[in-house]
Amino acid sequence: MRGEKVNLRPIEKRDLEKLNQWKNDKDVYQFLGGGYQPISIDQQEQWMNNLIDLTGDNKRFIITDKDQVAVGMVGLYGINWIHRTCEIGLYIGDKNVQKRGYASEAYRLLEKYAIEYLNLRKINLKVVSANTAAIFLWEKLGFEKIGEYHKERFIKGKYYDVTVMEKFI
Ligand SMILES: CC(C)(COP(=O)(O)OP(=O)(O)OC[C@H]1O[C@@H](n2cnc3c(N)ncnc32)[C@H](O)[C@@H]1OP(=O)(O)O)[C@@H](O)C(=O)NCCC(=O)NCCS
Repeated sequence: MRGEKVNLRPIEKRDLEKLNQWKNDKDVYQFLGGGYQPISIDQQEQWMNNLIDLTGDNKRFIITDKDQVAVGMVGLYGINWIHRTCEIGLYIGDKNVQKRGYASEAYRLLEKYAIEYLNLRKINLKVVSANTAAIFLWEKLGFEKIGEYHKERFIKGKYYDVTVMEKFI
């Protein structure tokens, strides 16, 4: 999938090192669903086949810049083919290239794919309420807040609220 600033492509084995680097970066992972759980490159390698698999209910893509350099990952998770819903996860792992519009465009490319080829109807997400960059991003992209879990996630010694959002696509 090609945009003006970024492209999306399937994950490949050669992405192992970058995925492991991002996974072990606290700033990138602490506010994501799985939290900050550093892992060795060997363990990451064992997971690669799951990450690569695009045939099931999870569809993950590498975000690259226009020089084909991997800068992040975006994925649709837990796709329900009856209800036509899913959850989204997104990060720009290379912090030097955040705030360039990459996440916004990556989302729009994936949304278009979800409408035109996966026949999905609604995208849901959960985001830590204190993650203002992400909250602004999702609001800008048309997601609506529908509720909040209180003291839901334990991050760096503290419990954080989590905002629940949805978008009909
Ligand atoms: C949140 C994240 C994906 C944004 O990626 P990005 O490529 O920097 O986002 P964009 O450049 O497309 O910015 C889109 C909008 O997000 C908001 N935004 C992004 N970074 C922001 C920041 N540091 N502070 C406030 N708003 C910010 C702005 O509204 C921005 O729109 P604008 O440029 O028109 O003002 C990125 O910071 C990231 O990967 N964070 C760590 C992982 C994470 O929290 N993922 C989301 C989990 S739900």
